[in-house]
Amino acid sequence: MCFLCRMDSVLTISQVSRRSGVASSALRFYEERGLIASERAGSGHRRYPRSVLRRIAFIVFAQKIGLTLEEIGEELAQLPADRIPTRRDWARLSGKWTKRIDQRIAELKRLRAGLTQCIGCGCLSIDKCALANPADRAGRKGPGPRYWLA
Ligand code: FES
Repeated sequence: MCFLCRMDSVLTISQVSRRSGVASSALRFYEERGLIASERAGSGHRRYPRSVLRRIAFIVFAQKIGLTLEEIGEELAQLPADRIPTRRDWARLSGKWTKRIDQRIAELKRLRAGLTQCIGCGCLSIDKCALANPADRAGRKGPGPRYWLA
């Protein structure tokens, strides 16, 4: 049975937006990227299964810890397609995030420290650069703020 047959368990895009706190435009974007799915009502309007709220919460949190949309798509692809994911399914995904969260914390600490120090970006514009990055030595290791990218 399609989820449109269970009208009380489906949500409009406005309802999903209100309940998830994510703008309708972002929901359409997620859908274009294949991260969430809807079916069309007879009117052509999108209808989402209630379980989409959990997927959206996952997407929002995954973005906050630094996963790209491609990575999020790969993670979501591991969920069962033939049934609503269980708590165990979700736990399996988020359980892999501990390492990622630790990496993100370390990045943020480096970022915070770098706010007042040379970050090896090649600008040589603050007084610390002459000591920390003489003649843009960091640039030999590659582009971008090399000391943030450690
Ligand atoms: S802050 Fe850019 S090279 Fe030092």
